[in-house]
Parts: sequence; structure tokens; C-alpha cells
Amino acid sequence: MAVNKTDGAECTGGTAPRHIAFIMDGNGRWAKKRGMPREYGHVQGAKVFRRIVEYCGDIGIEIVTVYALSTENYAKRPKSEINAILNLFEEYLGDAERDAPSRDLRVCFIGDRSIFSPDIAERMSALERMTQNRGKRLNVAINYGGRAELVAAVNKLIAAGKKSVTEADLETALYTAGCPDPDIIVRTGAEMRMSNFLLWQSAYSELYFIDTLWPDFSEREVDKIIADYKGRKRRYGAAE
Ligand code: IPE
Ligand code: IPE
Ligand code: MG
Repeated sequence: MAVNKTDGAECTGGTAPRHIAFIMDGNGRWAKKRGMPREYGHVQGAKVFRRIVEYCGDIGIEIVTVYALSTENYAKRPKSEINAILNLFEEYLGDAERDAPSRDLRVCFIGDRSIFSPDIAERMSALERMTQNRGKRLNVAINYGGRAELVAAVNKLIAAGKKSVTEADLETALYTAGCPDPDIIVRTGAEMRMSNFLLWQSAYSELYFIDTLWPDFSEREVDKIIADYKGRKRRYGAAE
């Protein structure tokens, strides 16, 4: 695709990304192409999510963030599809709880948790507490919206008595407080937009758009993306 600077693994000189975020898009279309219900695409997508997180850890990526469900998905999609996604999430939570003792992975959830039952919400917090001192980090954005996150952050600061806020204040009130911004945000599924993902945190993230539908996404593509990233020059507004 012309939007990305290299199509192979030729640029290998630069620094590898510390934090990669994935907008895991295309599950529904992947299923439709096979004459299957959208839910089937989410089942496949959940498997690929597990594999890709594992792979990123294996190759030394410190932080991975995945967009699993947006606030808009939750509000606008049929209940049956949302329930299927939330069931897959619960399955993942169970697996993460089981694996936590033997895995060097900190798991964090970002998003509005009010949709979860007290039992699930408590299990999410417990897993976060249990894994908080691990080396690598996974952020799962679930019922997440960038605008909602910013509004919640501002309201939190107002409630704490702030009359005006700095960028540093705002950062402490985001769901991602304490987590470095993504170096690169990858979106599968051929759409070139952010869809309300990490609006604040993406200010200087590199962007990578790929046609591959998420259930077809592979480790090989992660390698290509990292090679492409290494060939990019980040300036943050400075001159050469
Ligand atoms: C991404 O795939 C997963 C979620 C939004 C939950 P989609 O379900 O958006 O799949 P497409 O974009 O319709 O193919
Ligand atoms: C973004 O994909 C959300 C997730 C991948 C979880 P969408 O499929 O919801 O985005 P739009 O609606 O095409 O912008
Ligand atoms: Mg989509």
C-alpha cells in the first residue's frame, strides 16, 4: 500500500518500537466473505489477538495495546454481536487469570467498565493488581472511546478540585496514566481512520494502515511493520 513507506523488511537500521497499538478491524467482513455470521469473525479474531500478543512479547515489544470494543460499537451494534464479543472477552479474562502466575505480562483494561457486572469488573481489577509489577504490558481497550476518556479525565480533575489543568495533569487522569504513548498504531481492515482510539495518546504516533482483515493478520506482517517503523524519522515538530 502506498501509505506505508516500505513493503518489505529492507529498513532495519532504526530503533524498534517500544509500544505498538492495534486497531483490530475486519472481523465482520472476514466472516461475511466465508458466508458466516459476524460472530465467527470475532472468534477467529480473538485467536489472532492471542497469537499476536504472544509474538510481540517474544520479539521484545514492551507494550501492546489492542482495540477490542469501542463505546460506539457497544452503543450501535446488535446486542447479539456485543454479547458474543463480551463472551470472548470473558473467556480471555479466564485464560489471563489462569496464565498470570507464570507469565511476565501486566494486563490492564482501558475503557468504561460500567457495562460489566460487579463480578467481572472485580476480576478485571484483581488481574490488574496481581500483574502490576510484571515486565511487559498489554492494554486491552474494551468499551473504550477516546473522547469519553478525555471527558472522564477532565471530570476527575474537576472533582479533585482543579480549576485549570496542565497536559501533565490530564495524563495522570487518563485510563493510560503512566503508560508511554504508542510508537506506532496499526489498523487492519483497509479503513484509514482512528475511530475514536487513543486520541490524546496518538498525537505523535506513527500510523500504519493495512488491507489485511484482522483474522488474517500474521506474525510476518508484524515483522514488516517493525521494519517499516525502523525506517521512519520521527521529528515531533522539530527541524531535521
Ligand atoms: C473489528 O471488526 C472488531 C470490532 C469492532 C469489535 P469489525 O466487527 O468492525 O469488522 P468489520 O469492520 O465489520 O469487517
Ligand atoms: C474500530 O473499528 C473499533 C475496533 C476495532 C474495536 P470499527 O469497525 O468500529 O470502526 P468504524 O465504525 O469502521 O469507524
Ligand atoms: Mg470494523
